Order: sequence, then C-alpha cells, then structure tokens
Amino acid sequence: MNQLITLDEFIFDRQADFPYASGDLSRLLTDIGIASKIVNQKVSRAGLEDILGAQGVTNVQGEEQQKLDVMADQVFMKSFLNGGMVCGIASEEQEDFVAFDNERSMNGKYVVLYDPLDGSSNIDVNVSIGTIFSIYRRKSPIGTKAELSDFLQPGSEQVAAGYVLYGSSTMLVYTTGNGVNGFTLEQSIGEFCLSHANMKTPPAGRLYSINEGNLLVCHPGIGKYADWCRQTDKSTGRPYSGRYIGSLVADFHRNLIKGGIYIYPGTNSSPEGKLRLLYECNPLAYVIEQAGGRASDGYTNVMEMVPEKLHQRVPYFVGSPDMMDRAEAYLND
Ligand code: AHG
Ligand code: MN
Ligand code: MN
Repeated sequence: MNQLITLDEFIFDRQADFPYASGDLSRLLTDIGIASKIVNQKVSRAGLEDILGAQGVTNVQGEEQQKLDVMADQVFMKSFLNGGMVCGIASEEQEDFVAFDNERSMNGKYVVLYDPLDGSSNIDVNVSIGTIFSIYRRKSPIGTKAELSDFLQPGSEQVAAGYVLYGSSTMLVYTTGNGVNGFTLEQSIGEFCLSHANMKTPPAGRLYSINEGNLLVCHPGIGKYADWCRQTDKSTGRPYSGRYIGSLVADFHRNLIKGGIYIYPGTNSSPEGKLRLLYECNPLAYVIEQAGGRASDGYTNVMEMVPEKLHQRVPYFVGSPDMMDRAEAYLND
C-alpha cells in the first residue's frame, strides 16, 4: 500500500512554504476539513434522518432553503466560531455577514465566505452536492469586529479557496496559491488523504456544461458557441458531449479533471445570471486559475471585479483555457 498523506499532515508540511506563517491559516484549513466531515456524515445519511426536503423558508436569494442547507451552514459557522482563526463569516444562506464578538475571534486574521451546500436541488435525489469556500485576510484592524469591507474584496485578494464534493467519494480540493491539491475521504480512518496532487486542467476538453433550457433567453453568442460544440469535426473531436449535473461543484470538478467549460449566462429575466460572485464564482476561479484554466463573466476575469454587495451575482464562464477563449470570442462577435 502506498504511504497515506493526510490533509492535516499536508497542510502542516506546506506551512513551511510560507516562512513567516503563524499557523493560523493551517489551523483554519484543518477546521474546514473537520466541518466537512460532519456535513459529509449528515449528507450520506440524509434519507435515513428527517433531514431531506425544504426548511419552509426562503433565503435572502429568494430561494427555498433546504434542511441540509441550514444544517451545513450552521456546522461550518460553528466550526469557524470555535476555531478562533476567523473574525467573521459571510454565507450564501445568511442575509448579512456575521462578525464574531468573542475576544479570540476578534483577534482572528481571516474572514471566510462560503456556499454551505451547493446544488440544493439535487439533495433530495441523491446526486452529488458540495461546499465552496473562500478565505481572505481581513482589512479591519485585528482585535476589532469584522466589517463589511473585509468581505467585499476582489477575488484576486483570496489567500485560499476550495471546495468539498460529496459525490461517489467525498473529496476536498483547495489552493493557497501554490497549485491545487485534492484529498479523498478515506472512510475507514475518517481522514482526507492526498489522492490528486498538483491538479491541472487540460488546455481543452470535449465537455460543455450549460443549462440548455436557457439557450434561447441568453446572449445569442452562447447559443452559437453551443451550436459549434455540437457540430461534427473530427479534427477538433466534435461533437462535444453536453454534461450538466446542476451542482456547480460537481460540474466544475469533472471539467477540471477531464477538460471542459461550464457556462451560467445572464438571462433575459436575470441579466446577472444566477451564481454568486463571492461564494461560488471567485473561489472556483482561484482554483481553476491555479490549475491552468480561467474564469470570467464572458468579458472580464471575475477575480478583478470589486464586489458591491455580499450576494452579488455574475454571469459565469469557467474551464479549460482554449475553450474559454473560443466561448468568449463568440460573445464578443
Ligand atoms: P445553490 O444550490 O447553492 O443555490 O446553487 C445552485 C446553482 C449551481 O450549483 C448550479 O450549477 C446551478 O445553480 C443550477 O441552476 P439551474 O437549475 O438554473 O441550471
Ligand atoms: Mn451554490
Ligand atoms: Mn448553496
């Protein structure tokens, strides 16, 4: 058997890459690993406990909250509160950011923004779902309460980002700006173990991921790009395969590994699209960039945008670099 490297071992080994690191970010990443194991346990038993279905309220996004959305949100928030490395959080499931007001947390250097459960519509039907997280260094003075400006930073300021995929196996994938590494949960010992070292996305692939139901209500260039993907041309391996799970994390992870492009466009009724800049688009943009890919709103790198509000949405294109170039060219034509 190959030697297992656990997530915690890996994180602490990598700490040496940052000579002045105090260990706080390492501890924070470890806390994320623990919280995701708790959520994984709940998700994997979902049908056996009274935890499927809607909570009975809508969130700030106007979307119906699922019980597991609320459970995951609370598990992660409590883990950050107890860990003491974070002065505040912002979650897709909460209207406002939360500034922790105990002394240890107010001395925390970081804020975390997260989508506790991505792919809510897939929860009740046993299809892969995930968690997405994004970590920034705070702007407000250490020792005080977190402020809105700590959370409204451009994605280029992220110090770490990643996701957990509750799929056929459970994986945690993250970057601190030094490549992307993936860890698979070894259920028998309850540890995430390094399984995908230094992940890179192919320059191009044969998968395109878009909700086809939106093609007639979005920019016509996107329909033309989808038409191009469907045309037969042996030299470019077309027709490409359409793959759309409806859980961004799962679609993203597959395309990262196999090569592909994911598009969630602005539509006539939602010109800003559906996906949230801070909780979904920026963290996955950081991961894909570190894996050799790109992310944009069709025109601009999403990580260059200065957010104006916590729940801001943006059209989203993410994937292999050559496919991104072509899709964006259709938009600009
Ligand atoms: P969330 O469950 O966190 O609200 O996110 C759902 C998102 C994303 O995961 C997915 O790719 C997209 O919504 C699917 O939307 P459509 O059903 O409109 O295609
Ligand atoms: Mn989501
Ligand atoms: Mn969500």
